[in-house]
Amino acid sequence: MPTIRLASETDFAGWRDAARGLRARGVPPEAAIWTVDAADLFSPHPEGEGDHPKGGGGGSPDDAEQRGSPSTAFRGPPPPTGEEKPLFTVPREFVELADAVILHRSDERFSLLYRLLWRLGREPNLMRIVTDPDVAKARAFAKAVSLAEHKMKAFVRFRLVTGAKDAAAPDPKTYVAWFEPAHRVTEATAPFFARRFANMRFSILTPDVCAHWDMRALAFTPGADPADAPGEDSLEDYWRTYYAAIFNPARLKIGAMQKEMPKRYWRNLPEVALIPELIAKAEARTTAMVGQAPSTPSRRVVRAVQRAARDAPYDGLAPTTLEAIAAGLQMCRRCDLYKDATQGVAGEGAAHARLMFVGEQPGDQEDLAGRPFVGPAGQMFDRALAEAGVPRDQAYVTNAVKHFKHELRGKRRLHKTPATGEVTACRGWLDAERRIVRPRVIVALGATAALSVFGKPTAVAKLRGQALQLPDQAQGLVTFHPAYLLRLPDPNARAEAYGQFVEDLALAWKLAA
Ligand code: URA
Repeated sequence: MPTIRLASETDFAGWRDAARGLRARGVPPEAAIWTVDAADLFSPHPEGEGDHPKGGGGGSPDDAEQRGSPSTAFRGPPPPTGEEKPLFTVPREFVELADAVILHRSDERFSLLYRLLWRLGREPNLMRIVTDPDVAKARAFAKAVSLAEHKMKAFVRFRLVTGAKDAAAPDPKTYVAWFEPAHRVTEATAPFFARRFANMRFSILTPDVCAHWDMRALAFTPGADPADAPGEDSLEDYWRTYYAAIFNPARLKIGAMQKEMPKRYWRNLPEVALIPELIAKAEARTTAMVGQAPSTPSRRVVRAVQRAARDAPYDGLAPTTLEAIAAGLQMCRRCDLYKDATQGVAGEGAAHARLMFVGEQPGDQEDLAGRPFVGPAGQMFDRALAEAGVPRDQAYVTNAVKHFKHELRGKRRLHKTPATGEVTACRGWLDAERRIVRPRVIVALGATAALSVFGKPTAVAKLRGQALQLPDQAQGLVTFHPAYLLRLPDPNARAEAYGQFVEDLALAWKLAA
């Protein structure tokens, strides 16, 4: 059984020469064994070994001409006279497909292509039968290869390496990238980088093969180890700045991003460090973009619209689902707090919980995460809930004001208590949550929440721990805000207030049961 040793994993010319010889000799696909002589990848191959002449790897200008013609001549091995005769022709689409399929990592690719070539002798229209299993498989391979090329063009990131100056390289700057392509596309993709970064000396290191550009020609050397790749450099900042500038929050699809970029790509991207923050801000930026898109109305018009929105009866546009509330919050312009916040933070929890907790407003961490009570006050709250025996996931937790009000102090965003107007402006959202969840008991955590829940100022310390009737059939309860407990300077006072807080939570759970 003939064994064909190709010069490299991507030796298209070698495969082609061998395949045409096999077919000319009538060797059926199942009788040929294809293998790669990897040891000789980058050294001249000794002649006369194996059953067939070796290819040189990569296409020659002749290949390009042949690919450009409607059908391609598969010539036999050069006869002694030097006269070449076409033995058979194959459709151009087969040659184009084979050129890509050969870069696929599957071990099956050489034999698959030879099987197609063999069958083309009797089935000249085979390549048009897309349902044929061999054709379908070859097309799928080519598609995967094309995707891998695309990914490589998109995700290669160079790092600056400054070497010693010498006569051959007066400019010592070299850029090096480490990349792990899904298929063997480095040689095929290298010309793209050479064109794109023509004035930059670079090397792209991959486990398969390394591509080097010295601003004149491309060269290839054997594959490298990740340890050969340089670490962080000054260019990382440029990439991050560039990425942050081109990041389009309106096109953010987190699931798709993760699917598109398996780990081997992510870990080489300097901008990855930015992604959590950009994702966190994406919704607010999208909202801002949508809001800004057509034109900028005059301030007088903006104020009139805001006034109208604030004063509009809530029931006019009342959301009927919690999802609608979450979406609506991102468009809310009833007050100005949306301007400096990352996003509107909707409530979360059991959709028909018997118990609802209402806090004041999202804090710094809630604003970034888009979830209520996840920061330091949230941790205190969780601890107290656990001590009171209240399962948080059986309650609904929300806030009186849905955007984070704060002021900047250096890089820090310091909490600011919302004004009465802001609480009133946001009240429609809480009312909608109350209508949809229909809790039996609503606990206001602190004075701002009490203002919203009861619709009037309420003395927390005086009224805490008592059930108060609300107009919507629910019972109301007011207690301390967890952040208040965190801020109490005296440890004894803090411990006492914390004990009362836990008691109030336990009472609320009992009332709701
Ligand atoms: N404080 C609140 O009132 N609500 C939160 O969600 C977080 C802190």
